[in-house]
Amino acid sequence: MSTTPSAAASGQFKIGDITVNRLGFGAMRITGKGVWGDPQDPEEAKRVLKRLPELDVNLIDTADSYGPFVSEDLIHEVLSPYKDMLIATKGGFARLGPAIWEQLGRPEYLKQCVLMSMRRLGVDHIDLWQLHRIDPKLPAEEQFEAIAEMQTEGLIRYVGLSQVSVDEIKLAQKYFPVVTVQNRFNLVDRSSEDVLDFCEKEGIGFIPFFPLAAGDLAKPGSVLDGIAKKLDASPGQVALAWTLKRSPVMLPIPGTSKVKHLEENVAAGSLELTDEDFAALDEQGKEAEAA
Ligand SMILES: NC(=O)c1ccc[n+]([C@@H]2O[C@H](COP(=O)([O-])OP(=O)(O)OC[C@H]3O[C@@H](n4cnc5c(N)ncnc54)[C@H](OP(=O)(O)O)[C@@H]3O)[C@@H](O)[C@H]2O)c1
Repeated sequence: MSTTPSAAASGQFKIGDITVNRLGFGAMRITGKGVWGDPQDPEEAKRVLKRLPELDVNLIDTADSYGPFVSEDLIHEVLSPYKDMLIATKGGFARLGPAIWEQLGRPEYLKQCVLMSMRRLGVDHIDLWQLHRIDPKLPAEEQFEAIAEMQTEGLIRYVGLSQVSVDEIKLAQKYFPVVTVQNRFNLVDRSSEDVLDFCEKEGIGFIPFFPLAAGDLAKPGSVLDGIAKKLDASPGQVALAWTLKRSPVMLPIPGTSKVKHLEENVAAGSLELTDEDFAALDEQGKEAEAA
């Protein structure tokens, strides 16, 4: 019997007409400290990417600003030509140094982001391009118009947004269909519950970033410990299983730079939480958030 985990066990979701396994991969951690420069262990980072198709992970989230460019370049080097994989990238952030991110939504910059991502990923269009942030320095409408134009031109197939409110999604929907929303969300950060509920109602994929609370939920000593022990699973696996059970539109993209962690995260897709466990975690997560 094979013990290789499969992301297919997490269920499927359709982004436009592209079907993906719900448990994906976030490629921000295959860069250097402060999401700047090369990863500490480039060979392991490449092994992580190489392992993705073997584990049936076919939703990969990246951004031009990861590195910058390092994540997209590595994805191209290891995974191109992409076979049955959705490579979702983002643009709209200028990088001014390690851990420094500056929103930049001027139409000509957004177009440069898309064209340069296409070059780096080695594709003639981006299947899912996400606006990393709406730049508050200029009207959102101007940014959405630029994106709609790129979609009409065929540079972008589907459009997603990131870290947005329900009102911002509704405004964007006047310019293009919003197929995904990527907001911060995990068991102990529920600030986007209203956005998630809206996405579920509209059939929009919800991509929670920091599904492991940037690693905190994968460590022992969190609210997950008790149930993890009972299920003979790791705390991180329980955190991911909880997000998957929370909504059928949920598409978690845990990030890692290590093959061992990737395999563990993908195995969470087959972890079944009972309704009682889900409710208990839900309660404990809310309490931890309030504390
Ligand atoms: N839209 C946005 O603004 C935005 C913002 C942040 C992130 N994102 C996206 O969301 C993805 C996920 O977020 P994230 O990577 O920052 O946070 P995360 O998935 O919540 O956690 C990643 C951290 O957890 C550790 N980790 C992962 N699996 C583990 C395991 N099984 N056991 C122990 N530790 C584990 C990783 O370290 P190791 O490398 O040591 O495994 C890493 O430090 C990113 O990769 C990126 O694609 C988007």
